[in-house]
Amino acid sequence: MYLGTKSASGQAVNGQDDSSQKFRMEVLNGLSRSPKRLDSKYFYDSEGDKLFQQIMAAPEYYLTRCELDIFQNKTADLADVILSDGSSFDLVELGAGDATKSVYLLQHLLDKGADFSYMPIDISGNILSVLNEKLKAQMPKLGMVMLEGEYLQMLGKAMSLSKRRKVVMFLGGNIGNMSPVDAKRFCLQVRERLEPGDLFLIGFDLKKRPETILNAYNDKAGITAEFNLNLLRRINKELDANFDVQQFEHYESYDPETGACKSYLVSLAAQQVTIGSSNVQFDKDEIIFTEISQKYSKADINTMAAATGFELVQNCTDSKGWFIDSFWKAV
Ligand SMILES: C[S@@+](CC[C@H](N)C(=O)[O-])C[C@H]1O[C@@H](n2cnc3c(N)ncnc32)[C@H](O)[C@@H]1O
Repeated sequence: MYLGTKSASGQAVNGQDDSSQKFRMEVLNGLSRSPKRLDSKYFYDSEGDKLFQQIMAAPEYYLTRCELDIFQNKTADLADVILSDGSSFDLVELGAGDATKSVYLLQHLLDKGADFSYMPIDISGNILSVLNEKLKAQMPKLGMVMLEGEYLQMLGKAMSLSKRRKVVMFLGGNIGNMSPVDAKRFCLQVRERLEPGDLFLIGFDLKKRPETILNAYNDKAGITAEFNLNLLRRINKELDANFDVQQFEHYESYDPETGACKSYLVSLAAQQVTIGSSNVQFDKDEIIFTEISQKYSKADINTMAAATGFELVQNCTDSKGWFIDSFWKAV
């Protein structure tokens, strides 16, 4: 289903025709596994988008502020890497959300007279509509193509839409929402779609004081808990299910050895939930694994670039040294 976002240039691309059926299938498959799991990409319905914007503003959630620091104060460094080639390009953003940080780079590139178009990709048609309105008002001259759908499918679409060189951005905690094995596979899949010389800018949250990390996903106001529980509300609404959300609670863990920060929903009672024509049984205290937010060391980042067909060009760090936006070039 295409949710009605139109690009400024009038182009619109729909990658979501069978999304509802896929959602049902993935939810039922995930809940039949042991331990049960739900994919974090489904957090983002219109309510989830709103909650995520509140998370980004929460005092404990340092990630957005750190990356904002880079995009506001090191904009020229980022632009220099992109513009050093001199040729026109497409700036493709995977999981763009509301582009809180990228807008600073977009504005800087426009001010520099760079010849480029912006191609935000997001699975949430709702957030793409919000972004489209925002950018049309803020930067009327920006050429945009909104790509609604999954990262890789839409990156393939972006490659087929124009032959210009690509600068692909994957910001925030997005790569962290994959296990290290999946993240490596994902970078290889991105590389397969790119041409030599194309750039890949990835935001990595660095390993740091465990308490700081854990608090970021356990904010005192309980917004992250609501965000996690909203996944059950979404399943109720869209898949004709009857989760009693009061009977589940948010739980967060961080393992400083592996760098894996994980979110779970815990069933507070033995219960049966109906999803369409299927029944799912929960034991008391049984968990659903909903999200990983993986943390990296600088050495991990170097290794990952080299192992996936890229060469590390430049690391941009925030003033606290908590977060890195790493520029890689496809070799
Ligand atoms: C954590 S938010 C980050 C947004 C933005 N990149 C930032 O740093 O502020 C993740 C965004 O990625 C989108 N997303 C998650 N999984 C996706 C997938 N598999 N394909 C496309 N978009 C996805 C979500 O809809 C959401 O807008």
